[in-house]
Amino acid sequence: MKKPNYGIDAPEVIRNLIIFSVLGFLLPQFFPLIKIGPVNFDTRGFNLMGLGCGVMTVWMLLYSLYGKLKHRDRILNMINWKGTEMVLDIGTGRGLMAIGAAKKLTTGKSIGIDIWNMEDLTQNSMANTLDNVILEGVENKVEIKNENAINLSFADNSFDIIISNLCLHNIYNAGDRKKACNEIGRVLKKGGTAVISDFRHIKEYKNNFEQYGLHTELFPASYFTTFPPLPILKITK
Ligand SMILES: C[S@@+](CC[C@H](N)C(=O)[O-])C[C@H]1O[C@@H](n2cnc3c(N)ncnc32)[C@H](O)[C@@H]1O
Repeated sequence: MKKPNYGIDAPEVIRNLIIFSVLGFLLPQFFPLIKIGPVNFDTRGFNLMGLGCGVMTVWMLLYSLYGKLKHRDRILNMINWKGTEMVLDIGTGRGLMAIGAAKKLTTGKSIGIDIWNMEDLTQNSMANTLDNVILEGVENKVEIKNENAINLSFADNSFDIIISNLCLHNIYNAGDRKKACNEIGRVLKKGGTAVISDFRHIKEYKNNFEQYGLHTELFPASYFTTFPPLPILKITK
């Protein structure tokens, strides 16, 4: 029977790490000394680079295959669920958070939005996300939409819970990241909770939310379950 598949994060980064890891081990074997003009390079030090890249590759794969499920549970356990909530998962990818949240709901609804960047997650598409929704048996509680975090179509105060994992750093411009934070602040209901986890810019998001008038609390990353380490920011309105 087909199992849900939540994809491998940052596949191009993993590919590059594998290339550097293999080069780091092979170069010293075949070319221990490289002569460039008058300079001789001793390549044995590359072994260390190869080892470092190899370890990072394995760690990143372990996160994608196992750690992200533990990380999802840690995030979902930060919320006091009633079951009736309206939930938004920003940058849902293959539906990891939207589907996990849906399993906490009775009459509530979980909406996942994404623009499905292929370089951020393997086989990233709405069709594959909908496959996971069906395989997890939550199709009556989940809706998946094509939408950009920078400009949300939802009305002010629409969601009790907003979750976003490893998404906002993919917005490369700080001004646009601020727009995305403001959009989260806008569509979150008064009394609602947002939980944002990311490996970069977490303090910038914290400032953005505080400037928007929201209360924030920062939790450290778990190095056992996440790589790159993913701190968690809890925001209340
Ligand atoms: C590394 S994946 C993480 C997916 C999912 N949250 C998870 O934890 O498995 C990042 C996701 O953010 C999405 N994304 C990037 N920029 C976005 C934007 N501006 N608006 C919505 N989604 C975005 C990508 O398409 C990708 O699916």
